[in-house]
Amino acid sequence: SSGQTLPSSDSPALKFKVVAVQGRARSSRMTLPHFTAHTPMFMPVGTQGSVKGMTTQQLQELDCHVILGNTYHLENRPGSELVDAMGGLHELINWPRGMLTDSGGFQMVSLLHLAEITEQGVTFQSPVDGSAMLLTPEQSIAIQNRLGADIIMALDDVVPTTANDPARFEEATHRTTRWIDRCIAAHSRPGEQNLFAIVQGGLDTRLREISMQQLVARDLPGYAIGGLAGGESKDDFWRVVSQCTAGLPPGKPRYVMGIGYPLDIVVCSALGADMFDSVYPTRTARFGVALVPEGVLKLKNAAHARDFRPLDPSCDCMVCRTYSRAYLHNVVTRGIASAAVLVTYHNVAYTQALTRNMRRAIEEQRFPDWVRGYLGTMFPKGD
Ligand code: GUN
Ligand code: ZN
Repeated sequence: SSGQTLPSSDSPALKFKVVAVQGRARSSRMTLPHFTAHTPMFMPVGTQGSVKGMTTQQLQELDCHVILGNTYHLENRPGSELVDAMGGLHELINWPRGMLTDSGGFQMVSLLHLAEITEQGVTFQSPVDGSAMLLTPEQSIAIQNRLGADIIMALDDVVPTTANDPARFEEATHRTTRWIDRCIAAHSRPGEQNLFAIVQGGLDTRLREISMQQLVARDLPGYAIGGLAGGESKDDFWRVVSQCTAGLPPGKPRYVMGIGYPLDIVVCSALGADMFDSVYPTRTARFGVALVPEGVLKLKNAAHARDFRPLDPSCDCMVCRTYSRAYLHNVVTRGIASAAVLVTYHNVAYTQALTRNMRRAIEEQRFPDWVRGYLGTMFPKGD
C-alpha cells in the first residue's frame, strides 16, 4: 500500500483511519468515545449486557475492543431508564471499552417470531404478558440513546434471505431508507454516539445498489451489511458482501452483521469488511464445541477422553495453557458449569487471535500467504 493515500473519515464521535491495505483487505484504527478499536475485529455478543460466562476483566485480557448488546433484551430487563439512571451500559457492566447496541427489530422478527412489520415500526407480542407492543425507529433510537453505546444501529426492515417474495424485498429496502431518516431525526446524541445505517436488499444486486446509494447519501459515520447469515448459499453470501464492500465508502467502517464462523470472518475480511458479531463462538462453547485451526473440536466425543493435548496447541490462552482435552471432555460430558466457562474463554481467545493475526498479516503485507496457510490447515489436501 506504499505510495497510495489510505482512506479515512472524521465524524463527531468516530475517527476511522485505514493503516494498511492489501488487495481488498484493510487494517484500520477506529477511535470511538470509549476506545480505539483495531479492525478487522470480532465483537462478542452480550445479549443482556454481559457476555455469558465471561467477566469484563477476561474480555479485556483477551483483547476484545468492542462488545455488543441488544436493545430489545435490555429494554425488557433491566430497562433503559434504569441503565440511564446508573450512568449508562458502560457503567452498569463496568466495561471501559467500546460498546455497540443493535436496534431490536431483527431480534424480534428473526429470533422470537413474534413480530409483524408495518410502516410505523415493528409490532410484537410481549413475551412477558402477550400484550401488543410497538417498536418504532424513534423509540429504538431513544432507548439506544439512554443505553449509551458508542455505536447504535438503525431500526431496519429485515426479510430473511430465504423468503421467496421479491415485492417484500423491494418494500423492505425502501422502508429501511425511510426509517433511517426517522432514526437520524430522533438521534439526540450524535456528538457521543455513532448511528450506523444497515444496507438491505436481500440477494438482489439491484436492490442492494439502491439501498447503498440511498444510505451513503445520508453520510453516516459507518455502514452495516444486513439481511445475511440467514441460510442463503455461500455463493450468494459472498456475492452480496463483495458487492457491498465494493460500493460502500472506503474511508468508513463496514460491519457485516451476524457473522461468527471463523471462515466467514476471514473471507469477509479479505473482501474488505471490518467488523463482525455473532453469538456463535460463545453459544457453541456452551454445547461443548471448541474452535481450533482445523475447524471444531466436539468435546463430548469419547475420542477426547484420553487425549492429554491442549484444545489448540497453537493457542496461548489460559485454558490451553492449563487444561487437557481429556479434562475438558470430562467436565463437558458431566455438565459441570465451569465447562461452559472454560470453552467460552478459549473460543473468544481464538476469535480475537484470528482477527489480530489477520491485522498483522495485512500490515506486514503477507495476507495472501496467511490466508493460504489458514485454508490449508482447515481444508488439508486429500480431505
Ligand atoms: N443482525 C444480523 N443481521 C441483522 C440485520 O440485518 N439487521 C439488524 N438490525 N441486526 C442484524
Ligand atoms: Zn485456547
